[in-house]
Amino acid sequence: MSRTPFVAGNWKMNTDKASAVALAKAVAAGAPTTIDVGIAPPFVYIDAVGQAIANSTVLLGAQDVYPEPYGAFTGEINTAQLKDLGVKFVLTGHSERRHVIKEPSDLVARKASAVYKDGLILVHCVGEKLEERDAGKTLNVVEAQLDELKPSEMTDPRRLVIAYEPVWAIGTGRNATDDQAQEVHAFIRDAIASRWNRDFAYAVRIQYGGSMKPDNAAGLLNRNDVDGGLIGGAALKADSFLAICKAAAEAKKK
Ligand code: PGA
Repeated sequence: MSRTPFVAGNWKMNTDKASAVALAKAVAAGAPTTIDVGIAPPFVYIDAVGQAIANSTVLLGAQDVYPEPYGAFTGEINTAQLKDLGVKFVLTGHSERRHVIKEPSDLVARKASAVYKDGLILVHCVGEKLEERDAGKTLNVVEAQLDELKPSEMTDPRRLVIAYEPVWAIGTGRNATDDQAQEVHAFIRDAIASRWNRDFAYAVRIQYGGSMKPDNAAGLLNRNDVDGGLIGGAALKADSFLAICKAAAEAKKK
């Protein structure tokens, strides 16, 4: 395959300053350079983590952003501020923001636009809840979340990454099977082809997220349309995160 796998660690609201810096240094020291590896620490540690990985190929990420320029938005952080600290990619639409923090779809869409327009790599998360899967609505839910993206604005497929994260698999220890993941990933690529075009869709990376661990990573990453992972729990330990990165690098060689 010609897509470069992208494995990103989403640290969520975990770590303190010292453990964030130590984890970042360990990831920087061990990350394979044949794939894209990124880490998204909490906002408050982005600067320190950025310095810790400065001499490596590891990409610095942010878990969220506010889609407005500088101004009166108490508590929020904009794309310019993230870029100022060396951030290269930003997550939008993560299920915890959609379903726990109750972020509405129109705000997710505005965030995705702001990230892309400001030159950053957009990692847009999509995925169904368990009741939606059980009701046979998985593909409809994913399609509606893809509709948050604007093809007219987003013209470089290397800066658009989709993370398929079934909500029932996140932090539960119950990952999607390789077949379940591949089915939705192929659907996502087709949906992107119909919104953009085939070449564009072929170049977009589609990550799997939801209880990806060293022991299930290779099976998932070897499937045709699985181009990396968005890792939560297993990204909080350097050895498990790096084992997943290694599995992605191996999958690329096949
Ligand atoms: P998990 O989280 O790997 O802990 O399931 C994935 C995510 O939320 O991105």
